[in-house]
Amino acid sequence: MGEKSMQDRAFQIRPMTEGDLEAVSVLENLCFTMPWSREELKRSFENTGLYRFYVAEDGGKILGYTAMSLVVDEADIDNLAVSPEERRRGIGRALLIKALTDASELGMETAVLEVRDSNLPAISLYESLGFRQIGYRKKYYTNPEEGARLYGRIFSGSFPILN
Ligand SMILES: CC(C)(COP(=O)(O)OP(=O)(O)OC[C@H]1O[C@@H](n2cnc3c(N)ncnc32)[C@H](O)[C@@H]1OP(=O)(O)O)[C@@H](O)C(=O)NCCC(=O)NCCS
Repeated sequence: MGEKSMQDRAFQIRPMTEGDLEAVSVLENLCFTMPWSREELKRSFENTGLYRFYVAEDGGKILGYTAMSLVVDEADIDNLAVSPEERRRGIGRALLIKALTDASELGMETAVLEVRDSNLPAISLYESLGFRQIGYRKKYYTNPEEGARLYGRIFSGSFPILN
């Protein structure tokens, strides 16, 4: 399949279901050096009072997912991953916009997240969605050891973002 038709192929963003757990777990292991275990994923997914999970799907195939937790008036983006061969076609952005739009509609005032210091693709994505660095956590990550940038944004009339 050529690059153009890859770009044009549609994907759908929807809430995760239990049936997606296996595919999300595979994706998590593929994308992170400190992945959530299948058990952690399952426990968080089932904790519906705290977490919301969304997946990007194309013809039954899970291409990406995101998880956020909602605490009082703050949405914490805990995880975001897109399958390596499906990156750079807007899936990460679409997943985040869906989660943030829902968070805003649910009355959240702010969104926060941590990101590895060296993770430029993710940092660019977050900055393009209005996140700004609000803090730094030294040696937050292991494997390899690395600091985390804390990013945040305040919801305002600008949500939902339409681009
Ligand atoms: C970060 C990640 C989720 C982005 O997903 P994606 O579907 O490729 O992102 P999108 O196609 O929606 O990109 C949106 C924007 O992010 C930025 N971006 C994404 N990948 C980039 C890269 N490799 N280099 C520079 N900027 C990049 C760009 O601004 C891009 O917009 P553009 O394509 O119009 O220039 C994906 O790279 C990933 O899964 N990485 C591994 C896991 C990870 O690091 N997750 C984040 C943890 S905090």
